[in-house]
Amino acid sequence: MALRSSFLTFLVCAALLPVLFKAVDAQGLKVGFYKKTCPKAETIVRQTVASFVAKDATVAAPLLSLHFHDCFVRGCDGSVLLDSTKGHLAEKDATPNLSLDGFDVIDTAKAAVEAACPGVVSCADIVALAARDGVVLNNGPSWQVETGRRDGRVSSASEAVANLPSPFTEISELKAIFARKGLSAEDLAALSGSHTIGNVHSNAFTKRLYNFTGKGDRDPSLSPAYAQKLRSQCPRGDETSIVEMDPGSAVRFDTSYYARVVDRKGIFRSDATLLQEKVTRDLVYQYTGSTSDFFHDFGVSMIKMGSIGVLTGARGEIRKHCALVNA
Ligand code: HEM
Ligand SMILES: *[C@@H]1O[C@H](CO)[C@@H](O)[C@H](O)[C@H]1NC(C)=O
Ligand SMILES: *[C@@H]1O[C@H](CO)[C@@H](O)[C@H](O)[C@H]1NC(C)=O
Repeated sequence: MALRSSFLTFLVCAALLPVLFKAVDAQGLKVGFYKKTCPKAETIVRQTVASFVAKDATVAAPLLSLHFHDCFVRGCDGSVLLDSTKGHLAEKDATPNLSLDGFDVIDTAKAAVEAACPGVVSCADIVALAARDGVVLNNGPSWQVETGRRDGRVSSASEAVANLPSPFTEISELKAIFARKGLSAEDLAALSGSHTIGNVHSNAFTKRLYNFTGKGDRDPSLSPAYAQKLRSQCPRGDETSIVEMDPGSAVRFDTSYYARVVDRKGIFRSDATLLQEKVTRDLVYQYTGSTSDFFHDFGVSMIKMGSIGVLTGARGEIRKHCALVNA
């Protein structure tokens, strides 16, 4: 009898656990993690991002991209911020690194946060907060960033190459890459909307203009008129020119990316290929017609992306400088 009742108690407790811990997600992150230990942390990050955006609104895009690159390689652990060391190339020095920028914003925010509460707030959390703040300042949606990530001690260029999708990736492979990170095809459709802001180097798309299958051909999924325009901006052999991802709207976070994909003006093959499967195609069309659906889903997917492989509790460390592991 005693045994049975303690078993019952166990059952009841087990059933209650999820309720008790509801505020903390499966990975141990929660909204307002620094409420007691560093109450000004989120404000400091927001003000720092705002001061940079006020000088140059294009800085928001690299901040968003930084969070993506951080999370897809070793989880959101600030590994993207670490410098290479002697004989070891870090993520930021891998080939997909060309776009990476915004490190000065993170370092400035970190210095200000350290001055307020030394050794408390992780670099990985600052990246997650700055990504959101940048999107908001480019007129995009806001979402509640969960915090409590800790910083990793390893960053490897080869892991960046292995985990980040190339802009030439087709839909089935894109879905597989996202699935390996716990993200769905729906997340893929929503997060690709990030390409409504920012810039791109020509090496990420010139193949589509000049030599798509190796026969001197053009990618048939690209609008001929737009291909012509891109050719004038990036002549054959040019791998370094920079063009706006969403021309004319590059610092405005809106649904025009989706309208461009529908018009066959998505700049990457990985954008165009979203039309090739029903789940992603339906969402592309849905988002062209509904800013509120896009904004809502984008926030939900960003929170999911922000929890990939995080270090929490006693794992990892709180770096003193974002580019260096602690001694
Ligand atoms: C679906 C797979 C994705 C591929 C293949 C991809 C690929 C790329 C490439 C090649 C660039 C241009 C880099 C350059 O030439 O400078 C870029 C830029 C960018 N990506 Fe993605 N991306 C993907 C998903 C994402 C996600 C999930 C996010 C954010 C959540 C994101 C945010 C951005 C932003 C904001 C930029 C502009 C960066 C800047 O202006 O510096 N991308 N992406
Ligand atoms: C990108 O990585 C390559 C090595 O893969 C390195 O030579 C280059 O300097 C890096 N570029 C930037 C901007 O860090
Ligand atoms: C096109 O690609 C093929 C195969 O990759 C290559 O052999 C050829 O030299 C390329 N042509 C040009 C003009 O770059």
